[in-house]
Amino acid sequence: MADGGIDMFTEFTPNSSNTKMLRNAFSRFATGVTIVSCDSLDGHIGMTVNSFSSISLDPALIMWAPDKKSSRFKYFEAAEYFAVHVLNSDQYQLCSEFVKNKNAFDTIAHSTSNEGVPLIDNCLARFHCRKFDMHDAGDHKIIIGKVDNALESTGNALSFYSGEFGEIKSKELGK
Ligand SMILES: Cc1cc2nc3c(=O)[nH]c(=O)nc-3n(C[C@H](O)[C@H](O)[C@H](O)COP(=O)(O)O)c2cc1C
Repeated sequence: MADGGIDMFTEFTPNSSNTKMLRNAFSRFATGVTIVSCDSLDGHIGMTVNSFSSISLDPALIMWAPDKKSSRFKYFEAAEYFAVHVLNSDQYQLCSEFVKNKNAFDTIAHSTSNEGVPLIDNCLARFHCRKFDMHDAGDHKIIIGKVDNALESTGNALSFYSGEFGEIKSKELGK
């Protein structure tokens, strides 16, 4: 803490030599954690993702952004259908598996949608999507999905903030 109780801060102009600093700044935006899944010629593919965001209610649209450098990118770029699983705090282990291993569905119990997309049960929410649009965005691509089916449950959320996993319990502030 600096004098007056104000936290020290770092200010910089993002460029290709300080992407770690930008990653740190981005990490101050607390998010939930999802697993995005699709089918492919190489089998079922999954990826832990926190770039997910809701977009539109009518039509029902969501987005997320895969890294072009990921070995999984080609599968999601090609997939017509995919599913987004919003994880609860008991699903940390699943999240961890899909950070390391795109083929984790080989050993993880799952069902399959009519379109062949691998599905995980007992999530906080699950969205079955059909690709609606895709936009180039630097070293990532933005994939927009039209939600064909939505499932919602209750529980505590798995969170990601400042490079650490945590748990969000709903608590009303300002009352
Ligand atoms: C909390 C968290 C969120 C992530 N979110 C994304 C994301 O939004 N987009 C992405 O491309 N990779 C994301 N990743 C990385 C992927 O989960 C995965 O580790 C990466 O695709 C591995 O690349 P590889 O298949 O080339 O080894 C995230 C990782 C973590 C731990």
